[in-house]
Amino acid sequence: MLQIKTEDLAPEVPRMASITLLAGRDKSGRGEPLPQLSVEAGQSLAVVGPTGSGKSELLSDIEQWADRDTVTGRRLVVSDGPTGRPHDGGGIVARLSQKTSFVMDSSVEHFLHIHAECRNRGQETIVEQTLDAANQLCGEPIRLGTSLQVLSGGQSRALMIADIAFISDAPVVLIDEIENAGIDKLKALSILSASDKPILVATHDPILMLMAPRRLVMREGGMQRVIETSPEERERLAELRRMDAHLCRARDLIRAGDTLQEREPAL
Ligand SMILES: Nc1ncnc2c1ncn2[C@@H]1O[C@H](COP(=O)(O)OP(=O)(O)OP(=O)(O)O)[C@@H](O)[C@H]1O
Ligand SMILES: [Mg+2]
Repeated sequence: MLQIKTEDLAPEVPRMASITLLAGRDKSGRGEPLPQLSVEAGQSLAVVGPTGSGKSELLSDIEQWADRDTVTGRRLVVSDGPTGRPHDGGGIVARLSQKTSFVMDSSVEHFLHIHAECRNRGQETIVEQTLDAANQLCGEPIRLGTSLQVLSGGQSRALMIADIAFISDAPVVLIDEIENAGIDKLKALSILSASDKPILVATHDPILMLMAPRRLVMREGGMQRVIETSPEERERLAELRRMDAHLCRARDLIRAGDTLQEREPAL
């Protein structure tokens, strides 16, 4: 069982930031139905909608600190957090994007050390802690001496998630499809949720959609509405999690080269 203590996570940085995204226009140039979206510190929000509906673009607007200067015309307002747009050297956001790969050619250990040093993380154990968390998310372990360039897609994502949780000092976390690449999405979310940072998760996974207390619905590039997860939906969530656990067990057995007949009872 993964246990993350809040004080282990990026300890010397401001955690509190609430963000408001003022509406712009959808893909057809029409004003967005939802006039503004606010996410408070410590809250999480799922971003849902069909493929191409603008989920990643919305995360980009937050990452780029949009000021009516992106394709959507939205504007981001940040309170209780650091000031200055990302290109001023500040940067409020840690983003796990949909496509992940490292351009740097170094060992995992060197990368984590450099990043920890840049962020003034003084603890001696930070590299080991980060690697340990990453390895709880992926099947085949990442080693300190491994080159970043030979990590698989899932290992890269696992390392980035652990890096965001333990080393990054950004007070807002944006996650684009955490369910990608076969990593344990629930463990990943629990690592990332162990701080007060607002977390926005763009997802196609119904479990992740319902785990957030609220979800933003996107359509044709526009913010449509925010729905609060109802008590009935939370009950359905428990049922969906049981089904998902069953599916994941079957997946793990099959991908480990095992067979299902004797080992896995039918649902
Ligand atoms: N409001 C908008 N105005 C203009 N273009 C937009 C707007 N929103 C999204 N787009 C564009 O539409 C395309 C699809 O958007 P995006 O990649 O955000 O979809 P998505 O919901 O993340 O899809 P997927 O689920 O496949 O990841 C992108 O090229 C994006 O730049
Ligand atoms: Mg996307």
